[in-house]
Formats: sequence, structure tokens, C-alpha cells
Amino acid sequence: MYYPEEIIEEVRSKNDIVDVIGGYVRLQKKGANHVGLCPFHNEKTGSFTVSASKQMFYCFGCGAGGNVITFIMKHENATFSEALEKLADRVGVKLPEFEQSAEQKKQASEKAILLEINKEAARYFYYQLRGKAGEHGMEYFKKRQLSDETINGFGLGFSLPFSDDLSQYLKKKGYSEEMIVKAGLASVDEKRGLHDKFWNRVIFPIQDINHRVIGFGGRVMGEGEPKYLNSPETPVFDKSRNLFGLNFARSSRKDHLILCEGYMDVISMHQAGFTQAVASLGTAFTSGQANLIKRFTENVILSYDSDGAGTKAALRAIGILRETGITAKVLDLKPYKDPDEFIKNLGNEAFEERIENAKNSFFFEIDVLERDFDLKDPEEKTKFHREIAKKICSFSEEVERNNYIEAVCDRYMISTDAMKKMVISYAAAGVMGYTPTVIKSGVKKADPDEGRKRAQRLLITWISEEKDLLSKISKYIDAGDFTTDLYKKIASRLFEEIENDGDLEPASLISMFEDEEEQKEVASLFNTRLTDLNGQPLEIDSVRDKERALYDILINVKTGSLEYYTKRLGSEPDAIKRVMDGKKLLEDLKKNKIKLG
Ligand code: UTP
Ligand code: MN
Repeated sequence: MYYPEEIIEEVRSKNDIVDVIGGYVRLQKKGANHVGLCPFHNEKTGSFTVSASKQMFYCFGCGAGGNVITFIMKHENATFSEALEKLADRVGVKLPEFEQSAEQKKQASEKAILLEINKEAARYFYYQLRGKAGEHGMEYFKKRQLSDETINGFGLGFSLPFSDDLSQYLKKKGYSEEMIVKAGLASVDEKRGLHDKFWNRVIFPIQDINHRVIGFGGRVMGEGEPKYLNSPETPVFDKSRNLFGLNFARSSRKDHLILCEGYMDVISMHQAGFTQAVASLGTAFTSGQANLIKRFTENVILSYDSDGAGTKAALRAIGILRETGITAKVLDLKPYKDPDEFIKNLGNEAFEERIENAKNSFFFEIDVLERDFDLKDPEEKTKFHREIAKKICSFSEEVERNNYIEAVCDRYMISTDAMKKMVISYAAAGVMGYTPTVIKSGVKKADPDEGRKRAQRLLITWISEEKDLLSKISKYIDAGDFTTDLYKKIASRLFEEIENDGDLEPASLISMFEDEEEQKEVASLFNTRLTDLNGQPLEIDSVRDKERALYDILINVKTGSLEYYTKRLGSEPDAIKRVMDGKKLLEDLKKNKIKLG
């Protein structure tokens, strides 16, 4: 951690979470909480909850959650330190500049050095492309009809057909082999020693939104495998949170961004005047990238390749964008494969026309779906209609559902009443209705231990809200019974505080973690509720019912713990003791039950 824990805690506690989030989201007081529309996914009814007493936010729709620092990190796509600095500024806390440990200083300066190395490398490639040795590369770009202005604007370059010229150049500039390797520009092996990653390729520097070079893509000139070679992820190159071309596209003054697959697509679109184009970085589109886009616009036009792989990638991106609250449309590029080829063949105006006629992403999904069914066969046709009904269930608002029902029924000559009934029956069966949005696009797989973990979360939430409970159950359960490192860590801090009569705010436990995903997980530990079969919160009033619920949870946690340590009998030193004691405690618990009140 860059800053000492006390300072983090001071900044966090001085920034009231309701005040801060209230500046971004319209919140309404509802009972003990404030509720509003979640800024991290698309919803029409508020499941985004901010608790003044816990100083946490949690969305029951998409699972986003954390403390005030997490919120700023997520909302501004900021790092932990950046968020902390912003919040410190807000309440006039001065952050120490000297409190870095040696390791932290090393990391901070390491990033700075990696950025410097990238900048030097970009300059080197740039220079080579324009020299005698780069003629071949220049020819290639010219063949692809790039103008000098475009080539210079994107800082395109060329890597020579020698195996270590860049490394040698960087070493002469004073950079260590270790850092050159860390920057992803070279590697070392016994046979060849230090050798460059890019070799006889045209080079596309990849910049972050502040125009800093964070990595490179290199293309073979002509045929060859792999067609593109990309820098690996490094401390300064996070492929899931950057987009190629966004540093230019952010100031394009269009109301939307065009998302496509390739570097060349972005470049030829920009050259043709479509400066709102961006691309992902040789990997599939991620929710981190969707959040990044949302800082600039809520409208995206997808311009993926028109082949099977492109269609599949587009469907996936649509799901991710929809969950982030971004409206997507899809460009039809046919008969061409990608935007680059389209523009070369049909020109700017034709492309502009395609943009204007971009298809609503729902109809795009339906069109793709239709290809799997033979609509002349009555049975297949029914199946197709069912699939449509399922898709419509994913819209949370009735008006929206009805609009889509009408439009789709109109198109396929289906009776709207029949379709409405089908949709309702699917929604009632819970086919889509209650599955959290993350699961819908297949981004997350079901976790087999989820039931066990849920019991552990229920227990932690319960204890954090009723601190007396701990003394009643501590005979049976301790922090070691939790089955992930994060859960163990949180339980142990929480239990320790309660035993010492501390008045720890759970929100402070969140800032023990710098990673957003971990913060979200910690938040969920304090926001898990018992629910009925329909996912509605369950209110338990009678002591008897409470005792029964607690008993079930404890049995579940303890059994989970036994399974956990049984699996680790050979590998974890205290596993034997935990299994033996655990068995006995489980028997005790079953015999004696738990008495409350
Ligand atoms: P495409 O194969 O569609 O290439 O890959 P393209 O953009 O049309 O490239 P040109 O027009 O042939 O030059 C799309 C993107 O996928 C990544 C790159 O980011 C590329 O821009 N990719 C592709 C790789 O990372 N490695 C590969 O081998 C191929
Ligand atoms: Mn192409």
C-alpha cells in the first residue's frame, strides 16, 4: 500500500459516502439506506444502495460494491491511489509524499522507467521507419493507402530485421536488461541471450488516454504467423482497461464511439474522418473497457468483422455494454470483411450511411438467432419464438419489453398476445428474471463452492450487524473456518475488533485491498441477506426462526470448513487438528443447537 493505513482511514472517514455518491447519483432515502439507479449497470428501478451507517455501497442488481474509495475508483476508472488523492483533496487532507516504503518507491519508479523505455522504443521505431532500413515498412503502409499525416499522427514505426538492435539501443541509453525485458520489448534465453520481441515488423504504438505509450503491436508485412504480435501485459500495460485510439477519439466531438476489432480499422477510419473509432487490444472486449467508454459516452456502434468470429465477438460485446448501461448498435459492413476494406472500396459517404443505418443491437441478436432455425418447420419456428421470448425477458422495464414485443411480432407476424404470454411465462419461471446480469452474457461461470461461500457471507453480515452474536458462536466457529484467503482475513480482523470492543466500521476493511474486484468481494461479505425462493429479502422476527436460520448457516460453514481442511490434509500443517476438532464441534453443535435471546 502506497499510503499508511491511518491516513487512508482518515480520508475515508472524512468523506461521507452518502455525500460523495450523492454528487454522482440521485439518491432517495428509504428506511436506513439511500437508494438510486446503479451507475455501473443498466437498470430502471433502483437496486443501488448506499448505507450511511456502514459507509458502503452495494448494488443488488449487479453486485458492484465497496466503500467510498471503491466508488471513485470504479466511477473514474482510477487506481486506488488516484481515488484516495481525489478524496483527500475534497476534504482538505494533505497526503504525505514521503511515506513510501522502499518497495513502493521501487514500484512507482519502475512504472516511470517502463514508460520512459516505451517512449524511447517508440521513437526508435518511428525513426527506423523513416530511414533507409525502413523503406520496406514504409512501402507496406503506402500500399495500405495510409497518408503521411496518418502515419505520423499515429506515430507508426518499423522494427529492423536484426535480433537485438532495439535492446542494444536501449542499453546504450542506460536502461538495464531487466527493465527492457520487463517492458516486454525483449526476452532472454540461453541460446540467444537478450533478443528483441519485435523483429522485421511494422509497429503500432499503443497509447493510453493521456497519450503515453504503454505497449506495441507489430504486424508482419504480408503473409506470416502470427499476423500481429503484441506487447505482453506489463505493470504499465493493462489490456483490459485501455483501448487503441481512445486518446484521439475522446476529443472527436461525436455523440458516440465506434468500437472495432483491429488497429488498421481504427487507423483507416480516423484517416477517413471517423475519429470516433477505437479498438480493443488483440484480446476480447472487457467490462473494464466498457467502464472506460462510459466516461465519455453511452452510445457505441459496433463495427466488428462480418465473419463468424466477428459476429460472436459482437454478441459478447453487446452483452457487456448492455450490462454497463451503454446502448449498442451494430454496423452492417457487407459485402466487406472489416471497416478498413469497406472504406477503401465504397468510400466515406457509404460508410457514413451505414453508421446512420446501424442496427439496434436487439435486432442484431435476433437476426443471428434466426440463422439457427428453419422457420418453414413449425416445430423449429416455435423454438425460435421461445428464444425471442427469453431474450425479451432480459429487459427489465415493461414499456421496453412491450416495445420490443411489438416490433419483433410485427416483423415475424407473430401474435403479440401470444408472445406476451410466452414472455410472462418465461419471466415467471425465472428463466432470466432473477439471474444476476453478470451471468447472462456468460462472463462469469457458476462457482461450485458458491453455496458454502454464501453461508459464510451471511454469517459475516449477521455478526457485523449484531456484534453480540459472536460470543454465542465463537465456541464453534473462528476465522480459520472461512474457506478463501480473503474471507479468512476479513473474518479475523472483524472478530478481533469485536472481541476487543473496538468500534470498527466494516468500510475500513475494504481499503485493506487495493484491487476493485477484491473490494467488491469484501463489500458483499457485509451485504448478504437471507432471501426467499424469489430472491426477495426475508424478514425473520421470531427468536425460534432466527435460531433455526443461524443453526443452518453454522452447520453449512462448519461442514464447508471440514471439507476444506480434509482436502488439505497432506499439505497444510494444522489441517489434521482442524479436521479432528471440527468433527467434534459439528457433533456438539448438532446436539446442543444455539440459543439466542
Ligand atoms: P484481424 O485479423 O481482423 O486483422 O485482427 P485486421 O485488423 O483486419 O488487420 P489487417 O487489416 O489484416 O492488417 C484484428 C485484431 O486482432 C488482433 C490485432 O489487434 C488486430 O488488429 N490480432 C490479430 C492479434 O493480436 N494477433 C493476430 O495474430 C491477429
Ligand atoms: Mn483488415
